[in-house]
Amino acid sequence: MSMLVSSTINGDQIEFACEANETLLDALRDRVGLTGVKEGCGTGDCGACSIMLDGALVCSCLVLGAEAEGRSVETVEGMSDGEKLHPLQDSFLQHAALQCGICTPGFLIAAKALLDNNPDPTESEIRYALAGNLCRCTGYDKIVRAVQATAKSMKPKAAKASPAKKAAKKTTAKKATAKQGAK
Ligand code: FES
Ligand code: FES
Repeated sequence: MSMLVSSTINGDQIEFACEANETLLDALRDRVGLTGVKEGCGTGDCGACSIMLDGALVCSCLVLGAEAEGRSVETVEGMSDGEKLHPLQDSFLQHAALQCGICTPGFLIAAKALLDNNPDPTESEIRYALAGNLCRCTGYDKIVRAVQATAKSMKPKAAKASPAKKAAKKTTAKKATAKQGAK
């Protein structure tokens, strides 16, 4: 039985038709044309099909298309701002954190979910957050480094210059002025 589903996908109101037993993964790829969502296993084990559904990270191969009715879906296609890549996407490129690329959209979505909730994760927290995503190519280290670099680059500048450092700078400047005055 075919049904009409209405969802907000990457910020746009979208209607698509799908079969009652069709997965959201298949509906996104075949009905909506969002082929960034990848199928690795189809059984919830690899994370390649990861998306955000109402703000929660889910495997779209384990969700029915019909379950997206009235809900918000975010896929890798929604991460960039037009031509401008998300910092995570830039960092994955810079750190060569991908090879065949099948796992990459899922890693990007999972990493974004992590950084949105925890902007300054430890390496263990990153590895734990990405534990549901499998990669056959990169060996994971480059992916972890890319996420670490993104977190570092996204830190507010104010946080980088700590109050203690600022106070030390002021004291040094004052001493220099006093020395010049004494000459
Ligand atoms: S395709 Fe969904 S978890 Fe592998
Ligand atoms: S880059 Fe090939 S599976 Fe991850």
